[in-house]
Amino acid sequence: WLRAAIIAAAAYFCGCFNGAVIVSKYILRDDVRGHGSGNAGLTNFYRTFGGPLTIVVILTDVLKAVVAILIGVWVAKGFLPSFFMEGEWVIYGKYWAGLFCLLGHMFPCMFHFKGGKGILSGGTMAIMIDWRVAIVVWGGFLVLAVVTRWVSLGSIWAGATFPISSFFVYHDPVITVLALIIGALVVWKHRGNLKRILRGTESKFSIHRKKEG
Ligand code: G3P
Repeated sequence: WLRAAIIAAAAYFCGCFNGAVIVSKYILRDDVRGHGSGNAGLTNFYRTFGGPLTIVVILTDVLKAVVAILIGVWVAKGFLPSFFMEGEWVIYGKYWAGLFCLLGHMFPCMFHFKGGKGILSGGTMAIMIDWRVAIVVWGGFLVLAVVTRWVSLGSIWAGATFPISSFFVYHDPVITVLALIIGALVVWKHRGNLKRILRGTESKFSIHRKKEG
């Protein structure tokens, strides 16, 4: 339990480094949360500011998830009573760290608990967890986002299929519950997008940005 608490705290701390907030607030001096959808995520950052700093946002959110999960694996391995237990604890460590990294990204304590929707960090987590989970989550995300140009629809797919694909890959109750919580958080964060999609008012993503206002 001590190790679980260490992973949770470290991963939450990593997750708090929200790329969109840090770049907009401290480099551009114009908080992204006051623009567009109000979300502190890559889509809204690109929609609002665009430009090469988008790469910094991507790198921050990807790297923090990588670091959080590596910490999760490293600490979880300390549980190991034997070599054979390794696979199981490592995967628990990944999901546990991923969950808290996502919580940090979505509810960062240093930014008034107002963060993003967890797609970039969650997607990185899926890649680090298992290639089959990553293919289902990313494949559907890309197809839906490209075809409909609603990034959020792809994101909802990713959130909904993450627990399903995790279940079919691992058949493990603990992993299924953790993945369900992660998926539910992602879908819940997109509830406003879902309403707009159903009304047909959700904004479409375009590589060629339109000026806000
Ligand atoms: O990255 C989050 C995306 O799924 C939706 O973002 O700004 O359109 O609400 P946004």
